[in-house]
Parts: sequence; C-alpha cells; structure tokens
Amino acid sequence: MYSVGIVGTGSYAPEKVLTNADLEKMVDTNDEWITTRTGIKERHIVPDGMPVSELCYQAALRALAAARVGAEELDLVIVMTVTGDYPFPATACLVAERLGAKNCAAFDLEAGCSGFIYGAATASQFIATGMYRSALVIGAETLSKLVNWEDRSTCVLFGDGAGAAVLQRVEEGAGFLSFELGADGGGGDLLMLPAGGSAHPPSVETLAEKMHTIHMAGNEVFKFAVRIMGEAAVKALEKAGLRKEEVDLLVPHQANMRIVESAVKRLGISPEKVVINLDRYGNMSAASIPVALDEAVRGGRVAQGDILLMVAFGAGLTWGAAVLKW
Ligand code: ACO
Repeated sequence: MYSVGIVGTGSYAPEKVLTNADLEKMVDTNDEWITTRTGIKERHIVPDGMPVSELCYQAALRALAAARVGAEELDLVIVMTVTGDYPFPATACLVAERLGAKNCAAFDLEAGCSGFIYGAATASQFIATGMYRSALVIGAETLSKLVNWEDRSTCVLFGDGAGAAVLQRVEEGAGFLSFELGADGGGGDLLMLPAGGSAHPPSVETLAEKMHTIHMAGNEVFKFAVRIMGEAAVKALEKAGLRKEEVDLLVPHQANMRIVESAVKRLGISPEKVVINLDRYGNMSAASIPVALDEAVRGGRVAQGDILLMVAFGAGLTWGAAVLKW
C-alpha cells in the first residue's frame, strides 16, 4: 500500500455576507443569543442562481494550483455534498467537465457534515492500492437553499462554501495515518430534509408543510456531537499509534463553538491547537473542515511533519476522524 497525503488545498465562499444583525431583521433573534449559543457572527450566502458546482469549481481551481496538478491529470473527482445541483447527474461530473478533467471517474458522496472525512478516506483507498495517482475531493454546500428562513432555531446556523483538497502518493510514513468512520441510521430523523426523495416526492403537501427544509432536533444533535467527536478522535489517534499530546493541530467540524469547546475539553487538547472559523462562516457542513484546513495552511499554521487531527459529525447520523502527517 502506498502512503497518501494532501498535496494542495483550496477554498471559496460566496461574497455576500449575512450578519447576525441582518438576521435580527428577518426572525425573532438577536446577536447576543446567536453569539453565546453558537459562536457564529456571520455566514456567506450564495446569490440567487448560483449552484453549488460553482463553489466547487472555484475551490478546485485553488487546490489544483496549490498542488501544481493539472485537471487532466486527475483520475478521480469526488464531491461531498447534500446540496448537489441536481439529484442527478452528480455534481462531481459537472465540476470535472468544467475543470477540463477528461480522464477521471467522478461521483458524489453524501455523509452530511462528515462528508470531507468520508471523501478523503474513500479517495485515499484508490491511491493507496495504486489504482489511481491523483484525486480531487471537494466538500461543498449551499445550505442556505434548504433552510426555513422563518425557523430561528436553524436559520442562524448555516452558511455556504466549498473546500477542496488534492490527494496523491506521498513519502512513506507521511500522509493519512488513520481514518475512523461510523454511522447510526437510528438517529437519522434527528437531522433531515424530509421531502424530495423517494419517501416523500415533491408535492403540493410537502411544499405547504415545509418538508423541503432542514428539520433538526438541536439538543439531541448537540449531545450526540459532543460525545462522538471525542470518541472518534480517540479511536483515530489509537489507530495511528499516537497520543493526544502529539497532535499539532485539531481541525474540528465547525458547527457550534460550544460543541467544539466541550469536545476539546474531553479530548484534553490545548485550545491554541484548535482551528476555528465558524464565527465567520457558520456551519458549512461538508465544506467546514476543508475550508478551515485551507485557511490554516495558507495562514502558515501547518508545517511539514505536523500531526493534524480532523473530526466531524453530521446527518445520518455519521461521524469521522482522520489523523494526517503533513
Ligand atoms: N434566537 C433566539 N432564541 C432562540 C433561537 C434564536 N435563533 N433559536 C432558539 N431560540 C430559543 C428557543 O426557542 C428556546 O426558547 P424557550 O426556552 O423559550 O423554548 C431557547 O432559545 C433555547 O433553545 P434550545 O434549542 O434549548 O437552545 P440550545 O442552547 O440547545 O441551542 C442550538 C440550540 C444552537 C441549535 C444547539 O442545540 C446546537 O447547536 N445543536 C447542534 C446543532 C448542529 O450542530 N447541527 C448541525 C449538525 S451537522 C449537519 O450534518 C448539518
């Protein structure tokens, strides 16, 4: 098996920013509640008519440039999203075409906010076995399209964006040291988009009952998130044969500052080692970790040989953690 690592990252968020003050004018909420309960101050929102493939394309261009990899060199493109342009064709096919990636397989992968860890794990297997040499994985969401803008308990939480990474072989012993993935469909109803699939195809009723928007049992998801982030991270570190003290940077899913703080406390990792950008982006689901990672890389927070721990939870329910030697 070959060692597989990330050789370039890129990210993109639409220009338009929606602040907590803006939300105060839309629903019965206030900056103080949103800030203290979530840590979020603002989020980016796509303009009308901009599909998620556009965010993917912009993030991918930056990742390919950073990796110095041409689109035609790609063997595989995976887009992790729950807000694809269409139910089909896959957004990955549209993005590959736009990039000029003519020699690749392309598919979408859905694991909610754990999408980036699932996507990186999937792409890694193709490269580790020698089947492929270069893969592009893109976590991207336009959750603003699925939010019920009259529901203050969810509409303040989410934002739009995309983060991408190019994966290739790296020197032996570097790259991804472990993955820990899990799922529990028993909690599927805690966080879901009830209609639009085969269970409840679009109808006058599903529209009237707002079943095409995000439904979430916030408290239940919160408790699950705090527990599972700690457990998944510990298991990934064990698999990699590392202690928590050896982690240089923790890149957690950016859903809620209180969730991150509780998980970090349980893990016993020093807060200075944690990448946080949810104050500026809100929860971008599958885009959250790759955008945070890209900002950390471009901000000079990642040095060669550093040990990175990434950990996420999301709809499914799903969870995932990865240990990466940069
Ligand atoms: N502004 C003001 N008040 C509000 C708002 C708001 N935006 N939203 C809810 N409230 C009110 C509620 O109505 C409630 O009022 P009440 O006591 O009079 O009934 C009160 O605030 C407390 O509500 P809770 O839901 O108990 O608040 P909580 O502290 O649990 O915070 C939150 C809610 C932020 C949603 C939290 O539960 C959370 O972050 N959960 C995890 C959500 C998450 O991470 N989801 C993403 C999953 S990843 C994926 O796959 C997409």
